[in-house]
Amino acid sequence: MKAIIQTRYGPPEVLQLKEVPKPTPKDNEVLIKVYTTTVNRTVCGFRSAEYFISRFFSGLLKPNNQIRGNEFAGVIEGLGKDVKSFKPGDKVFGYNDTTLGAHAEYMTIAEDASITTMPESITYEEAAPITEGAHYALCDIRAANIKRGQKVLINGATGAIGSAAVQLITWFGAEVTAVCNTKNVALVKSLGAHEVIDYTQQDFTKLNTQFDVVFDAVGKSSFGKCKPILKKKGIYMSTELGYLSQNPFLALITPWLGGKKVLFPIPTISKKDIEFLKELVETKKFKPVIDRSYPLEETIEATRYVETRQKTGNVVITVSHNN
Ligand SMILES: NC(=O)c1ccc[n+]([C@@H]2O[C@H](COP(=O)([O-])OP(=O)(O)OC[C@H]3O[C@@H](n4cnc5c(N)ncnc54)[C@H](OP(=O)(O)O)[C@@H]3O)[C@@H](O)[C@H]2O)c1
Repeated sequence: MKAIIQTRYGPPEVLQLKEVPKPTPKDNEVLIKVYTTTVNRTVCGFRSAEYFISRFFSGLLKPNNQIRGNEFAGVIEGLGKDVKSFKPGDKVFGYNDTTLGAHAEYMTIAEDASITTMPESITYEEAAPITEGAHYALCDIRAANIKRGQKVLINGATGAIGSAAVQLITWFGAEVTAVCNTKNVALVKSLGAHEVIDYTQQDFTKLNTQFDVVFDAVGKSSFGKCKPILKKKGIYMSTELGYLSQNPFLALITPWLGGKKVLFPIPTISKKDIEFLKELVETKKFKPVIDRSYPLEETIEATRYVETRQKTGNVVITVSHNN
């Protein structure tokens, strides 16, 4: 089968399109024919190993799993002998952050991992990008216990995480003020933002409003700069470690001080989360934003584009055509 493999850490050019053996599912695994996957910031981070800490999860000197890719949508083609919850022909989607393997024509994943059947009436292209950005957003929403009636500011509302956060936080009932570039104001409004700040015109840290939560989904600000726009017990969260890795450090200290605080939750994902996101997609409360698609053969170009840090939402890879 065709796959994008990576034998060493480095720039996008370490990725190679190769013929590799088709995987065989273990007793508790399903074999999936992959139609679509994505290139996202998580995949890029683990590919480059820019943050050394990522190597403790993916291999100290070189990647443990040569086939990369975490998000997938496809169809069940084979079953391990113990699998009960899927059958051949089921359309599925999900997120494999342990053994990866989605940048290939076939992949395997445990039936009890983050995989479920696809929402009704969406395409494979729409299904693959449901999970990456949304599960980070969900972790932060839960950590901050965001609820109805609260005011939340989201910086970077056009990334995969930010565009999911606008929709999910709106669904949780909070009022969203979203920060983005001029060209995306209409898009972000359409995602449900109550108010939109164009960062080319206005510095959101100088607003006169105060928020229960400031969620920096692109990690461009700091707790110090956002303090004036946080309510007395307001929460600051960021997707980046921050200058001198201050965010995880502040998350250890500030909750003990009783005032404004930083949270930096460790991201997790489960089958329950995937099923929750599926329900939101089915009820049209959440729709992943898609910037553009590339064929599998152009994964290096797709990766270069994602690493411009200017994608709007998600970048999809078409592995096989559904016909
Ligand atoms: N902690 C983790 O495990 C983890 C995992 C994945 C990603 N991340 C981090 O999460 C962040 C978001 O990733 P992502 O995939 O959602 O988005 P992304 O690909 O980094 O997209 C960035 C978006 O933010 C906008 N943007 C750029 N500069 C901005 C600024 N100064 N103010 C406001 N918006 C700005 C860009 O649009 P315009 O340029 O058009 O405004 C673009 O749409 C990244 O920093 C990434 O490293 C962390």
